[in-house]
Amino acid sequence: MSARTLWVELGERRYPVYLEAGGLEELGELYRQHGLQGRAAIVTDRTVEKLHARRALRALKEAGIDAQVIPVPPGESSKSWEWADRLYTRLLWGGFDRESVIVAVGGGVVGDLAGFVAATYLRGVRWVQVPTTLLAQVDASVGGKTGINHRLGKNLIGAFHQPRFVLIDPQVLETLPERERRSGIAEVLKVSLVRDAELFAFLEEHVDGLIRLEPPAVVEEALARAVRIKAEIVAEDEREVKGVRTLLNFGHTVGHALEAATGYRLLLHGEAVAWGMRVEAALSRARGALSPEEEERVRALVHRLGLPPLPPALDIETLMEYIRRDKKVRAAKLRIVLLRGIGHAEPVEIPEVELLGALREGLQSR
Ligand SMILES: NC(=O)c1ccc[n+]([C@@H]2O[C@H](COP(=O)([O-])OP(=O)(O)OC[C@H]3O[C@@H](n4cnc5c(N)ncnc54)[C@H](O)[C@@H]3O)[C@@H](O)[C@H]2O)c1
Ligand SMILES: [Zn+2]
Repeated sequence: MSARTLWVELGERRYPVYLEAGGLEELGELYRQHGLQGRAAIVTDRTVEKLHARRALRALKEAGIDAQVIPVPPGESSKSWEWADRLYTRLLWGGFDRESVIVAVGGGVVGDLAGFVAATYLRGVRWVQVPTTLLAQVDASVGGKTGINHRLGKNLIGAFHQPRFVLIDPQVLETLPERERRSGIAEVLKVSLVRDAELFAFLEEHVDGLIRLEPPAVVEEALARAVRIKAEIVAEDEREVKGVRTLLNFGHTVGHALEAATGYRLLLHGEAVAWGMRVEAALSRARGALSPEEEERVRALVHRLGLPPLPPALDIETLMEYIRRDKKVRAAKLRIVLLRGIGHAEPVEIPEVELLGALREGLQSR
């Protein structure tokens, strides 16, 4: 069993991300080591409940912690005001006080919802994250963004609330469907493109193994590198005011539009982002910031992730409408993050027509 600890350096709120195969069994010990003694409310979804949350419950109980599992239905629709309200009610009825701790065991949906409840319940209680999807392990669990959706849009209601620690156990990914794993790897590819050319080369070599989760050393290396980059960026720009954290939006301008235009049903988040990265890499190349060879490497890696096709009825103008609605367009100019070579990104302002061209090109052969 190997263990690594990565730190999210946020002054008094700095916290560790533990990365350890089989680490779930040590949740109770870590909980105590962090000075947490109060009751634990394990928030999870019904799928993860059976697979992993019960083990989390056992680990906490074995450490003498009074703990209880509170499940929500799996899926994005649980990231809602209704479910936040039900959780408040459960916690209040259950007598959870300010010393209590919320332990989120699940994917990004559970993490965002449980974190939001932790940020607001009794004006804020402590919380711990145990991410169980690849996407949540490399992205959603690091950085303290929590929130729920509003009927007018995703992630519009929320708070920054950093956890006490994050525990990543790569073994829990063995039960995750392959499609979800591939989708999560798209976010690893994204951080490599904006910040770490070496990680990009590592993915070129090992992406097929990573999808199959073997060997474990490859999985741990990829997770650790991706988490380190996310942690560094968060430490530099916790609240996304300096522009550094916006670099993580590479692939997301187009990705979000694709998700919205397909009704959030056809594509997983990482799949939409992978399509988005293809388009935004084409745009970077068209502006001369990425060489044709580099763009080809990006396309090749995205291809190996295996994208589901886009519906033939999806037209470029519709996508542009969604992008405009995203409020990033002013006076036919669009703010977007583009690559400057592999491993570097920068926010730029471009005329809308340039994106139109890249959309035509990047969404070809769909
Ligand atoms: N807070 C942030 O910084 C941040 C960053 C990125 C994404 N997000 C949010 O994360 C959400 C998406 O997260 P996600 O992709 O993890 O989705 P998710 O939480 O819906 O999980 C995907 C599916 O996998 C199942 N699952 C989870 N772990 C499993 C396991 N180990 N084995 C088997 N099945 C498992 C879940 O039940 C669910 O059906 C979105 O709401 C997005 O907005 C937040
Ligand atoms: Zn994303």
